[in-house]
Amino acid sequence: MVVKSLHLSNFRNYASQELQLPPGLVAFTGDNGQGKTNLLEAVCVLATTKSPLVERDRELIRWDEKSARLGAEIELPPPPNREADVRRLEYSWRVEGQKVEREMKVGGVPQSAVASWLGQLQVISFFPHDLVLVTGEPEERRRFLNLELGKIWPAYFSDIARYRRALQQRNAFIKATYDNPNRRETEEKYGSLGELNRALVSYGSRVLAARSRFFAEIAPLLTETHQRLSGLEGPFEVEYLPGLSAWRRGDESDWSRLFLQSLERDHSDDFRRSSTQSGPHRDEFAFKLGGVDLRRYGSQGQGRLAVLSLKIALAHWVRDTLGDDPILLLDDALSELDSTRRELLLEEAKSFAQSVVTATDATFLGEVAAHFRVSEGKVEPVLTTA
Ligand SMILES: Nc1ncnc2c1ncn2[C@@H]1O[C@H](COP(=O)(O)OP(=O)(O)O)[C@@H](O)[C@H]1O
Ligand SMILES: [Mg+2]
Repeated sequence: MVVKSLHLSNFRNYASQELQLPPGLVAFTGDNGQGKTNLLEAVCVLATTKSPLVERDRELIRWDEKSARLGAEIELPPPPNREADVRRLEYSWRVEGQKVEREMKVGGVPQSAVASWLGQLQVISFFPHDLVLVTGEPEERRRFLNLELGKIWPAYFSDIARYRRALQQRNAFIKATYDNPNRRETEEKYGSLGELNRALVSYGSRVLAARSRFFAEIAPLLTETHQRLSGLEGPFEVEYLPGLSAWRRGDESDWSRLFLQSLERDHSDDFRRSSTQSGPHRDEFAFKLGGVDLRRYGSQGQGRLAVLSLKIALAHWVRDTLGDDPILLLDDALSELDSTRRELLLEEAKSFAQSVVTATDATFLGEVAAHFRVSEGKVEPVLTTA
């Protein structure tokens, strides 16, 4: 897909901005603090209603304003013998006190569920902040999985929500038995532990299966992408580490059984610690270069290349899965790469229907489809000779 036009109103340091974008490689350049990152963040917020950079919706609204609005026209590839389909998306939100009111519209028609909104605009983004995927806590990596898989598989999105509820219920049961040894009263309130386990395993095993399938499918893409970008033979891998106590590599056939066995094995541990030790809420994955865990032993440059490889491999996976190119957004991805890798990365970016890059400097960009200059929350086209 391709974003044909973009509209920002009261988003971060943008008061009101309209943009027409061509397919191909689009570049935004400008000094620090002018609004390049904000622009890419806006595209992500439009795609998912959430910022990949901050939790709070309020921070995204221009200072002294109460609401913000983002809009885009998306062009989808034409079905056989038909014209390309153009879709108009609008997302606006208003913050009052603790309350956030959201409104999502596709072609002017209000949408009620985030799940159905998520597929409309497919974006894969890289921000320098994404280095936390390598260096940060497991929580960061699970958030990445939930967002990226939820965007592609709507069923995954709802399985995660149901799993969270089932986990809360089970943990509440465990805590309640601790506070009140009268098991019958607790069971009246929460149901039996057997029932709670069945619900947990039913949703949790689907989450485990989806993640495991994702890592299996993306593995070859990751190795190839990393090889192309780094010029190194690797091997580079991202290793899935399910949060189950009863699991061994090569044992992935039946996630329900493995999860149930883990719960049984952890039984006394769970009650002693008042929480559930096994399950996809404890999942992890590790970046490995030549078998070495980059979280512990990697340099910053290796980490950066690992995350870039993951994001670009992900974009290839989305293309293969949906049969349509996602939009690739690369924020400040070029600055810390040497010139060879910069060129390789730009080649990768050009292999997608549309990609957007930001840089402080235009010198390394080479030929682009469009070049814009960003200054104090305003965007102006730069005339190119290309
Ligand atoms: N909610 C907001 N309202 C107004 N300005 C904001 C808001 N959030 C951030 N900014 C401003 O946006 C600018 C940073 O923009 P950014 O996109 O990160 O710049 P860069 O071009 O370096 O990527 C800063 O000047 C910051 O003060
Ligand atoms: Mg920036």
